[in-house]
Amino acid sequence: MSQETHEATAAELDWIAPAAVASRVVEDAREISAISRETPWRVRATASGDAALIGRWREHLDDCAVLGIWCAPRRVPALIADLERVAAVQGFSRLVGPLVPEEAAPPYLSAGLRVVERVVLMRLEHPQRACRHEPAPRGFGIRVASPEDLPGVFAVDADSFDDFWRYDEPQLDRYMRTERAAVATVEGRTVGYTLANVRGGEGSLGRLAVSPAARRGGIGRGLACDALGWLVRNGARTVTLSRQEHNAGAAGLYHAIGFRDLRGALVITVSQELRV
Ligand SMILES: CC(C)(COP(=O)(O)OP(=O)(O)OC[C@H]1O[C@@H](n2cnc3c(N)ncnc32)[C@H](O)[C@@H]1OP(=O)(O)O)[C@@H](O)C(=O)NCCC(=O)NCCS
Repeated sequence: MSQETHEATAAELDWIAPAAVASRVVEDAREISAISRETPWRVRATASGDAALIGRWREHLDDCAVLGIWCAPRRVPALIADLERVAAVQGFSRLVGPLVPEEAAPPYLSAGLRVVERVVLMRLEHPQRACRHEPAPRGFGIRVASPEDLPGVFAVDADSFDDFWRYDEPQLDRYMRTERAAVATVEGRTVGYTLANVRGGEGSLGRLAVSPAARRGGIGRGLACDALGWLVRNGARTVTLSRQEHNAGAAGLYHAIGFRDLRGALVITVSQELRV
C-alpha cells in the first residue's frame, strides 16, 4: 500500500493527537490541533493509518525534523522517503530522523539516513541523596529565571552547543516558560542555566550549560544541584537526562553527582541533501 502522506484531516487528528501526547511530542491535544491549523503540512497521515509530525529543527538551520512517527518498522523506509519529499517541497535541505534507540535504527538506515550522533541516557536513582555535601556557591549566584533572562540564556546556550544542538530563540523562550529554568550569575551577568521538569515522579534535567570562560569553577555542579533540589521538592523520585556520547564535561559532571549511564544508546540520523 502507498506510503504517500497527506495533510491530516480533522478525523485523522482525533487518533494522531493521543499518540502524539502519549509519546510526549506535544504537551496536549490542543497543541497538535494548533499546529495542524496553522501549518497543516506538518501533520501527515497515510491511507494505511500511519502518521508523522514534522517541523523545522532549528530556526538557524535548513533542517526539517521528524518529531514523531507512528507506523510499523517495516513501513518506515517508505514513509521517510515521502517525508523527504514533503520537506524538500517546503524548502528544507535535510531531513533529521527521530531520536530512536540504536536497535530501532535499521529501518531509518535502510531509508538512506545516516547516524550523526549517539546519545546516552543517564539516571539518578535517589536524587534526594545527591548533592548533600554540596558547598554553598562561592563567587556566583543561582536564581529562578524570568522571561527577561532570555537574551543572557540564549548567549550561554549558543556558546555551549554547536549549531545543530543549540536552541533558537523562540524554542528557548518556549522551554523557559514551560519548564523550571534557573540561571547562574556572576556580578549580574548570566554565565549558566538549567531547564528541569517533573512528571508523575519522573524528573528530567533538560539542559545545563555554563559559558566556556566560567567553567571548572563549580557553577555547573551548583546549577545541577539547584535543579535536583527543585525536582525532589516537586516529587521526583528519579531523574533522567541525555547527553552526547563523547561529551566529557557532561559525563564527568553527571557521574560525579551520582548519575549512571543506562545501557544502550539513542541515535539521531540525517538525510543526504534533499532535492525537489
Ligand atoms: C558540562 C558543563 C555544564 C560543566 O560545567 P562546569 O561549570 O565546568 O562544571 P563544574 O566546574 O561544576 O565541574 C564539576 C565537576 O564535573 C566534572 N567535570 C566538569 N567538566 C569536566 C570536563 N571537561 N572533563 C571531565 N570532568 C569534568 C569534574 O568532576 C568537576 O569537578 P572538578 O572541577 O573538581 O574536577 C560545561 O562543561 C558545559 O556547559 N558544557 C557544554 C554544554 C554541555 O555539554 N552541557 C551538558 C549537556 S548534557
